[in-house]
Amino acid sequence: EKGGYDTFMAKEIHEQPQAVADTLRGRIDESGQIVLDEVRMSDQDFRDIDKVFIVACGTSYHAGLVTKYAIEHWTRIPCEVELASEFRYRDPVLDRSTLVVAISQSGETMDTLMAVRHAKDQKARVLSISNTVGSTIPRESDAVLYTRAGIEVAVASTKAFLTQLAACYLVGLHLAQVRGIKYADEVSAILDELVAAPGKIAKVIENLDPVREMARECAANGDRVLFIGRHVGYPVALEGALKLKELAYLHAEGFAAGELKHGPISLIETGTPVIAIVPSPRGRSLLHDKIISNIQEVKARGARVIAVCEEGDKITAVHADHVIETPASPTLLAPLLTAVPLQEFAAELATALGRDIDQPRNLAKSVTVE
Ligand code: F6R
Repeated sequence: EKGGYDTFMAKEIHEQPQAVADTLRGRIDESGQIVLDEVRMSDQDFRDIDKVFIVACGTSYHAGLVTKYAIEHWTRIPCEVELASEFRYRDPVLDRSTLVVAISQSGETMDTLMAVRHAKDQKARVLSISNTVGSTIPRESDAVLYTRAGIEVAVASTKAFLTQLAACYLVGLHLAQVRGIKYADEVSAILDELVAAPGKIAKVIENLDPVREMARECAANGDRVLFIGRHVGYPVALEGALKLKELAYLHAEGFAAGELKHGPISLIETGTPVIAIVPSPRGRSLLHDKIISNIQEVKARGARVIAVCEEGDKITAVHADHVIETPASPTLLAPLLTAVPLQEFAAELATALGRDIDQPRNLAKSVTVE
């Protein structure tokens, strides 16, 4: 049942190229339009949207954070992302022209379900992204896009996360499409890149040996790990830290790299491991320059820096202690690649500490209580 792997998590990490390919398959029709599964909303309803709220918990929330960057860039619709457990207890400003996107692997997370009901009470439209056909959240939504990760057994989400990203990109591109032809060129170029992503994820997975080695070193030397990123690398840093907390029971924290000097940099001591998610040096070179300065700042205080960067990024190779290379990709799609080594890092570090990888203490796969 574990297909020759030691853990379900290892199996599920390796299933990611297929899971993402399955999630994309058949979703783009002959005319290049994105197809949702169950839609109780017209194209006009989608055109009327003037604000997007994404609600989710945990890893699904991190997929939402990535999506904000994509939706605002592609559609110019304001997009907010909020933890479902916060959204549901406050008084968000919603109406018929608000689209609430609920992301839930299980489709049964109580806080996310309650956020959906809270949104519907205020006449907002709800689109859900779920891995579980017929589960409660999709049933109560106006439109659904299912991820096709297959059953995820390990408590720590891996393939479900990557397929959520893929589905979220499709939703962003769908919104861009229904709003008009203005974005057509960019949308079709990004669709081509999305279709190429599974092959690149497979390449990342083939090259995880150095990551495992670094994880074992950190297990032997450290009691905490910090993650930094900017732009879409910031939610990836949060996700890397969450994986490490839940699997290794280690203190791990993700920061927006620009926030370091506003407090967290005082955590750095000689040898503190810092994992930096470095954006592509092409195109948005300003972001790249900024993260290089952040790497220099933490190194000057003694940190040991592991950088996740694009292959051939010579500048990062000069500044970081170790690099983990991922294939080139448009910045907005990079999380599909950069999240993967962090999953493996957490799993390997936790293994070295003797943890139960598939069933970490105190956690349940589906959180149906409030
Ligand atoms: C972390 C993890 C959790 C879930 C969260 C939401 O690895 O799996 O943080 O992401 O409990 O679950 P769903 O997506 O089922 O609503």
